[in-house]
Parts: sequence; C-alpha cells; structure tokens
Amino acid sequence: MAKEKNNLNLMDKLIALCKQRGIIFPGSEIYGGLANSWDFGPYGALLKNNIRQAWLKHFVTSRDDMLLMESGVIMNPKVWQASGHLQNFTDPLVDCKKCKKRWRADHILEQKSAVPRYDKEKPVDWKEIHCPECGGELTAVRNFNLMFKSFMGPVEDKSAEVYLRPELAAGMFTDFKLIQQANRKKLPFGIAQIGKAFRNEITPGNFIFRTREFEIMELEYFIKPKEWQSAFDMWFNLMKAWLKNLNVADEDIKINEIQAGELAHYSERTVDFEYNYPFGLKELYGLAYRTDFDLSSHAKFSGADLTYTDPDTGEKFIPHVVEPSMGLERTVLVTLLSAYTEEEAPTADEGETDTRVVLKLPKHIAPIQVAVLPLSKKDELVRIAQVLAQDLRQKFIVEYDDTQSIGRRYRRQDEIGTPYCVTIDFDSVKDKAVTVRDRDTMKQERVNLLDLIDYLKERLF
Ligand code: GAP
Repeated sequence: MAKEKNNLNLMDKLIALCKQRGIIFPGSEIYGGLANSWDFGPYGALLKNNIRQAWLKHFVTSRDDMLLMESGVIMNPKVWQASGHLQNFTDPLVDCKKCKKRWRADHILEQKSAVPRYDKEKPVDWKEIHCPECGGELTAVRNFNLMFKSFMGPVEDKSAEVYLRPELAAGMFTDFKLIQQANRKKLPFGIAQIGKAFRNEITPGNFIFRTREFEIMELEYFIKPKEWQSAFDMWFNLMKAWLKNLNVADEDIKINEIQAGELAHYSERTVDFEYNYPFGLKELYGLAYRTDFDLSSHAKFSGADLTYTDPDTGEKFIPHVVEPSMGLERTVLVTLLSAYTEEEAPTADEGETDTRVVLKLPKHIAPIQVAVLPLSKKDELVRIAQVLAQDLRQKFIVEYDDTQSIGRRYRRQDEIGTPYCVTIDFDSVKDKAVTVRDRDTMKQERVNLLDLIDYLKERLF
C-alpha cells in the first residue's frame, strides 16, 4: 500500500531516526560536516550490504547469462573522450547575481515558482528569468562538467590529469571483449558491477537522494541489434519485480518515457523509474537502450577490434546494449521510506498505548535479522542468551542486547527493522524454550530451542 508521502515531515522523521540509531548521519560532522556527504553507520552499512547481495542474486547470480566484474574508479582518461563524458557530461549552471545562490538552469525551468512563468514550448529567454528564491537577475548559462578531476603521480600538469569515474558502464565496455572470450560467452549475455561513482553535482541534496559520491548497481546486456526490444522488456519487468521485492508500492512508481530531445547522448530509448518522494516525483532508476554507441566509440578511440563473431553464422558485428542502472543510495532511501511506519501500540501500562515506530523492511535485507534479549541481566539468563546468540550468528545476522527494559529493547529493534526478537526468560532455564516476537504483528510464540534455527530459517529465507 502506498503511504501518504506528500509531506516533508516524513523525510525529517526518517533523517532523525537514521541519525539517532546510527543508520545514516552527516559525514565529517566533528569538523562541521562536508556539504551533503553522508556516512553509513553499522546498521546502514549492513542494510546497504544486504541490498547489494539481494541485487546480485536477483540480477546476476540467479541467471546463466550474467557475469560480475569490478573495474577501477580511475581509468585511462581517453575512456571519457570515447564515452562522450568529457564533451557532454555537463549540467547547465546559472548563478543569482543578488543572493549568489547557484541553480541548475533545467531545474529552474521545471519550477513553477520561477518568475516569470515558463512555457516550455517557447524558446528560453534567460534575461526574462529570475532567481526563484529572491527574484534577482541571473547570470548567463554556463555548462559545467560534472566529473571530478585529479592528477596521477607527483606532477600536477595536463598530462597527469585523470578523472574519478562518473558511471560504471565504461568498465564493462572496455573489458567486454576480454570477458566475452575468457568466459566463452555467446550473445545475449551481460556484465554487471556495483561500485562507487563520483559526480560534482551543482545542487546535491534531499538527504541521500543526490550526493557527489554514491554507488551504482548496473549491468550492460550485450545483444544482437534486432533483440533490443525484447531485452528492454525483459529488464523492465525484472526491475519492477526487484522493486516489488523491496516492498516499494506500485502506486509510488511512475514510468517516464524520456522524449527524443531529452535523451542522453548515448541513448536511443530510455525509461526512468520515478518515485513519489516526499519532496516530489523524481528519478529512481533508468533503463536505456544504448545501441552500439559505446562499443563503436571505444573501438574507434582505442583502435581495438570490439566486434563479435556469431559462432553459428560467422557474421561479425558490434553488439548492441540494453542497460538497467540503479543507484544504491536511492534504493536505500525508497526502501526506508516504504518501510517507515508509525502505529499505536500498547505500552507496559495496562490499557495505555503510544506511537510505535517500525521499519517494516523486507526481512531479507533487514540489517539485523534476529535480536537475542535476556529478560534480565541475571547470570543464569545472560549465560544461555550469549551462547544462543553465538550459535545463531553462524546462520543469521544477530544482535545481543541486555540493557534497558524489555519493552524499550523491543522498540529499539522495531526502529531498526529487526524481524525477530528472541527473549530468554526464567522458564527458558527449565523448559529449554524461548519466546519469539514478530516485528510486524508483535505476536509472541514459544519455540523450543532445538527448533529455533529451523523456525527462523523458514521465516527469514
Ligand atoms: N550508466 C548510466 C548511468 O550512470 P544515471 O541515470 O546517470 O545512469 C545511474 O545514473 C543511477 O545512479 C540513477 O538511476 C540514480 O539511481 C543514481 N544516481 C545518479 N546520480 C546520483 C547522485 N548524484 N546521487 C545519488 N544517486 C545518483
């Protein structure tokens, strides 16, 4: 079910919860922070890792036609000439002469608050357009390249210039032939990778939605040209299924077919999966048909032969490519937004209720799968609980906690999305059974210690 997300309140609550529980918080905070950089704490890092693993299973390891790779963050700079990033990976930038605020020109055009109102059909006369914040005059539009530049080696001159990769695709293209031959792959097949990308965004913001350092999970699916439509449909459906597995409501997703004039320089068709964030409908993922643009361009710039020879017909051609591309942090954000729930729940006081905050995360990606909670800090309970926690750690991600009241510990686990809490009480010593509490229903069940692993496995995997 889609939740009412059209309030920034939800965003504030989620950001506060993430900080309080050490899931995600501002980076370098003891030095006053670094604009729009975020660190992932213990639960955030586990959540991210579980998403990576689930993605790999869904898109790569459960299939016969997919391979995984890892390429460098820094590549030969000629790669970025061939990919078009040096020439085309720019955003249009304007500054307000009065309040000095910096804007993306295309974002201003989309904003209804800008003065005067725009008509997308009319050519843009930038002299007529004013700062949406203070109404001040804007500078002329400049194109700003988003790639982070650095120098390789000790000399900081032009010949030593390198770039941090702005996307991962390039590695899959430059290594295409080697991987195809080493792994004896026939078309169609794909190469996937997960890793960091860097973009010097003009207007980062909205928590982890747009940052300058982020991770992409993407794959390049190499095909015969005439297969592109069916490959496109297949990955489209797999992306939809992926979002469903993350409990992202269908109603919160809008498919946006990118119009011809707005397509990236490499794309013949792109659909964006947009999400209904509390701050508006914006891009979540992209699916693009990149034709043979990349392999042809890398062949031209490098001089390498990147043709493929069909083993059945002997035909030689440059493969075409369909690319599903998914940001990891945006995945974390929509997963958290979809999971965040507030509900009235009974307290320890008879007849009283208060608001329970629960992250109803899909069980397979919850940072902690099982919490082990002795009812009291008495030695006889702690001993059993610690041994049990260590046993369970061999199969699940487990947290042991013996501080505070049991009610507070349950609520803490609810807030980080732990699906099952296992409580050891004084009866456990005698009857060798524990109480298992379900995060979503709050129902408690007595389970024999000998059956516990199977009980949890059945529900978690
Ligand atoms: N190879 C294609 C490609 O890189 P993209 O749409 O530019 O496509 C891929 O980026 C995905 O990375 C996006 O769909 C989005 O999920 C995520 N993404 C893009 N820019 C981002 C940013 N500044 N911060 C966080 N995630 C971002």
